[in-house]
Amino acid sequence: MLVTGRGMRLSLFQLLLVLLKTLISVNAGITSTFIRSQLPSAVIPLDDEAFSIPKGHNAPQQVHITQGDYDGKAVIISWVTPDEPGSSNVQYGTSGKKYGLIAEGTVTNYTFYNYKSGYIHHCLVDGLEYDTKYYYKIGVGDSSREFWFQTPPKIDADAPYTFGIIGDLGQTYNSLSTLEHYIQSGGQAVLFVGDLSYADKYESDHHGIRWDSWGRFIERSAAYQPWIWSAGNHEIEYMPNLGEVSPFKSYLHRFATPYVASKSSNPLWYAVRRASAHIIVLSSYSSYVKYTPQWQWLREELKRVDREKTPWLIVLMHVPIYSSNQVHYMEGESMRAVFESWFVRSRVDFIFAGHVHAYERSYRISNMDYNVTSGVRYPVPDQSAPVYLTVGDGGNLEGLAGRFWDPQPDYSAFREASYGHSTLKIMNKTHAVYHWNRNDDGKKVPTDSVVFHNQYWASNWHRRRHLEAGGEVDC
Ligand SMILES: *[C@@H]1O[C@H](CO)[C@@H](O)[C@H](O)[C@H]1NC(C)=O
Ligand SMILES: *[C@@H]1O[C@H](CO)[C@@H](O)[C@H](O)[C@H]1NC(C)=O
Ligand SMILES: *[C@@H]1O[C@H](CO)[C@@H](O)[C@H](O)[C@H]1NC(C)=O
Ligand SMILES: [Fe+2]
Repeated sequence: MLVTGRGMRLSLFQLLLVLLKTLISVNAGITSTFIRSQLPSAVIPLDDEAFSIPKGHNAPQQVHITQGDYDGKAVIISWVTPDEPGSSNVQYGTSGKKYGLIAEGTVTNYTFYNYKSGYIHHCLVDGLEYDTKYYYKIGVGDSSREFWFQTPPKIDADAPYTFGIIGDLGQTYNSLSTLEHYIQSGGQAVLFVGDLSYADKYESDHHGIRWDSWGRFIERSAAYQPWIWSAGNHEIEYMPNLGEVSPFKSYLHRFATPYVASKSSNPLWYAVRRASAHIIVLSSYSSYVKYTPQWQWLREELKRVDREKTPWLIVLMHVPIYSSNQVHYMEGESMRAVFESWFVRSRVDFIFAGHVHAYERSYRISNMDYNVTSGVRYPVPDQSAPVYLTVGDGGNLEGLAGRFWDPQPDYSAFREASYGHSTLKIMNKTHAVYHWNRNDDGKKVPTDSVVFHNQYWASNWHRRRHLEAGGEVDC
């Protein structure tokens, strides 16, 4: 075959282009070639032991705890009694069997279509000591049950702490694998990025029942350590065809958050401080545009962040802002337009999201110069920007989102469609070790591992801030 001069020049040019690309793409992202074999993402049947009902008349079930105040000296303990209200009290103390203290809770119930809930108890236990193991007992007589939890260290810039990050969990055999791996990981509290039970995916008369089974499912972890909640689209349950038009009805009845402690007016968005982290929870499905309550609250909360005390600034939301998956593509764009400049200005360390059933980690990038009239339209490298992490693959029945945009965009550092969870091990004020752990057909495999440097202490930003505030610099 004859090659014309022109054709020759073209292929040489193409060769040069490829070489050039290889040279400049030292930072190029990774699309994992891992393909998980098809274990069933099958729903666990209701009579499985994963959902076992505790024995005894009206025995408390679905026990879970969450942080109960701003700084980690309180927990909210929640549970359900199936047959009658019973007691909402929690007996607690620092040694097992001897419960010197008692806290009084409240009870609520609700209906959803033709489902009638059990009696849902929430009890605030406050005034706790830091870094202390507490034992607690709920229920009455022979049906009472005992658990324990460990309070976090006091707020301190160098306090080490390990968070787990789980999203879109559901109640399949893959969900069980994720949960079991998380329990082995040594995580001390869960940052949950929305889409809890997927109860809304079941037959209309099974929604409530699947919320109950999910409550029993997570108890093995959530009764012993706080799960910090944020809500996803599967919590909305807006179903006018069933006469259910009050959004987040099941979620809000069942999962309490300490929103008042962070001056929020709504349990769907709030903040907590824990060890060396300041955690901000946002609601992707509540209004957040300029002037709305969530927007006003976030503006004020960011002013309360004190990186001298809590160096690690973490934001949770359900819908990812940067994701190169074809599923739910650009659904986070509206929130990016509203909040990205605040995230960059505040030097947020991490933004964790779920929603897309795959894993992805971004580089530090921002797209703030975008202008609807003209201007830059692409994300650019930005050392002040957060790292965006999508952990939307806890194992729910919808399956994986396996189709990513090709080629991998410059902002995407690592992406893989499989089930798993993440851990963020904060070492001190400058270093945190992060892992994404894939469920490799039953095994736990650390797949993406990164050492992150704190956005405040690992740069000289705090010195500049200090100077601006008129302070002296200690060099
Ligand atoms: C809640 O429980 C009370 C007491 O058993 C009952 O009378 C009421 O109907 C229940 N409410 C709902 C909304 O289910
Ligand atoms: C947006 O682009 C227009 C047209 O170039 C320019 O006049 C305006 O100043 C830009 N606005 C911002 C906020 O950059
Ligand atoms: C912080 O932790 C990292 C990683 O363990 C370690 O290399 C570094 O020396 C620690 N810094 C301080 C000030 O202890
Ligand atoms: Fe979702």
